[in-house]
Amino acid sequence: MEKFNRKEFGDYQTPLFFTDTICEYLKNELKIMPEIIIEPTCGIGNFLKSASESLPYEELYGIDIDPAKLKEVDETIPNLTLINEDIFKFKFDNIDKSKNILIIGNPPWATNTELSKLNSTNLPEKSNYRNEMAIDAMTGDSNFDISEAIIRKIITEFKATNTTIALLCKKIVVRNIFKDLIETNTKYSFIRQLNFDSSRVFRIDAEACLLVLQFGGSTLTDMACGVSDLSNPNKTLYRFGFKGGNFYSNIDDVPDIDGECVFEWRQGVKHDCSGIMELDCVDGSLFNKNGNKLSIETSLVYPLLKSSQVKRPIITETSKYIIITQKRINQDTSYIEDEAPETWKYLNNNKEHFDKRKSSIYNGKPDFSIFGIGDYSFKKYKVAVSGFYKSPIFSLVYTDKTFMLDDTCYFLSFDDHDSAYVTMLVLNSPLVKSFLKSIAFLDSKRPYTKRVLKRIDIEKSLETLSLDDLKSVEAELGLGSYLDEKILNDYSRTIKRKFNNKCKA
Ligand SMILES: C[S@@+](CC[C@H](N)C(=O)[O-])C[C@H]1O[C@@H](n2cnc3c(N)ncnc32)[C@H](O)[C@@H]1O
Repeated sequence: MEKFNRKEFGDYQTPLFFTDTICEYLKNELKIMPEIIIEPTCGIGNFLKSASESLPYEELYGIDIDPAKLKEVDETIPNLTLINEDIFKFKFDNIDKSKNILIIGNPPWATNTELSKLNSTNLPEKSNYRNEMAIDAMTGDSNFDISEAIIRKIITEFKATNTTIALLCKKIVVRNIFKDLIETNTKYSFIRQLNFDSSRVFRIDAEACLLVLQFGGSTLTDMACGVSDLSNPNKTLYRFGFKGGNFYSNIDDVPDIDGECVFEWRQGVKHDCSGIMELDCVDGSLFNKNGNKLSIETSLVYPLLKSSQVKRPIITETSKYIIITQKRINQDTSYIEDEAPETWKYLNNNKEHFDKRKSSIYNGKPDFSIFGIGDYSFKKYKVAVSGFYKSPIFSLVYTDKTFMLDDTCYFLSFDDHDSAYVTMLVLNSPLVKSFLKSIAFLDSKRPYTKRVLKRIDIEKSLETLSLDDLKSVEAELGLGSYLDEKILNDYSRTIKRKFNNKCKA
C-alpha cells in the first residue's frame, strides 16, 4: 500500500493557473506586502512558485509530510526552505512573528466519514476531534474536516501578528472557523469567502472556496462574513453571520420566526444493517436485500419510509419494511425469543452482520440494538423531512401500523391527525421555507438536521400565517380544502398550551 494514501492525506495538488489567480488577487486587490510567506502542506509547491513570482518576500517556507512531494518542488525558487514534517507537530517558533506574514495554500480536505473509514491518524495528537467525529457522523451534522484542524492551528499561532491567511478549503470550514472566531472573541481585520468552481479547478465536485482572513491593523466589530466570487471579488453576493446571538446563512434576509420549536424534532432509526433489517414486500411476501424470502412474525415488522420516498405532502403507503428490535434505547432484546421466535432465529442466523457494524455506538449494547427509537417512534402521525433535499418537502406520513423513518430523515410525531396536518402546512409555507433558506447551508451534504429544524418557532409562525395563507399552501400542495377555522383555532390553542407548559418547565 502506498505510504501516503491520497484520500487520507487530501492529495489534490492545486494547478498552477489557479495558484497564479489567487496570488494575483492578493497582490492586486488586497495589496499585501509580505516579508515571510509560508505554505503549510505545500505538496509539489505550486503556491510557492506563484507567490515567488508575483509577491514580494524575504523568506519562503514550504512544509509537507510527504518527502516524495517535496522532491517535486522547484528548488530554483529564491530563498526557499523546504521542511519535511507533519504540520500538526510543526513548531512555528523559528518564524519571526514581528514581520508581515502570508500563509497560503491548500490544506488537505478529508471529512470525518472518510477519515474514520480509513482509521486515519492524520489528526492533531491531543484533541477531542475523534469524539466530535463520531458524534457528528451519528447526527448527520458532519462538521469535521482535517483542513479545519490545520487552519485552527495556524490561527492560534498567528492571531496576534500581522498575518494574511489565504487557504483553500470547504465552505463549511469557513463557517466553522468564522463561528469560532466570534465565539472565542478573536479579533481580525478582514474576512471573506471567495467561491470558485472546484470541478473546473480540481475536477472534483466539492463545495470549496478561498478563505481570506487577516490579523493585525484595526479590528472588525461586524459579526458577518461576506461571500463573493473569486472572479468578481468586490461584489458581495450575500453575508452569513450572527444576529441577536443566532447564526444565519444569509444574515440580510431573515423572516422573524427564529426560536425553538414547541414539538421535539427526532431523527429516524439508525441500525447500520440494512441488508438484514430492511425488507421489501413483493406480492405479499417479505424479502431482505439478499433476495431471501422471510417467514417471520409481523409483530416487529413496521412500514418504512426512506429519505428518497419523503417527497409528497401526504404519504400513507410504502412497499418497504423494517424490523424494529427495541421499543427504547438499550432495551434487552432477549424478549424477542418468546415474543417472535422466527424473527429471533432470523436475527441470530445473521448475527455476524450486526457484529460487523463499525460504529462504536453499538459496543457493549444488547444484540441487534438500534438507535433513534423511543415512545415517539410509535406515534401514529408524523411530519417528516429528508435531511438531504435542498428544497425540503415536509410530509405528513401515517398508516395503520406506524411508519418508521430512516436515519437521514427528521420528524415530529403526533397522536392526532389534525395537529400533524396543520404542522405540515405551516412547515411547507413560503414563510418557513424562506426562513430555512436563511439558516441552512445548502452546500452541506445534509442541509437539514435537528439543529436547523428545531429553530423553526411554530408559535411565531402562526402569528404571521393567516387561515388564507395556510389554505393557499394546501391548494399549492394539491391537497383540496380540508383546513378550516376550527381546525386552525384548535391547533393554535394546542400550540399555546404547549408553549406555556414549556415555559413553566
Ligand atoms: C491538497 S494537497 C495540496 C498541496 C499543495 N498545497 C497545493 O495546493 O498544490 C495536500 C497536501 O497535504 C499534505 N499533507 C497531508 N497531511 C499532512 C500533514 N499532517 N502534515 C503535512 N502535510 C500534510 C499532503 O502530502 C499533500 O501534499
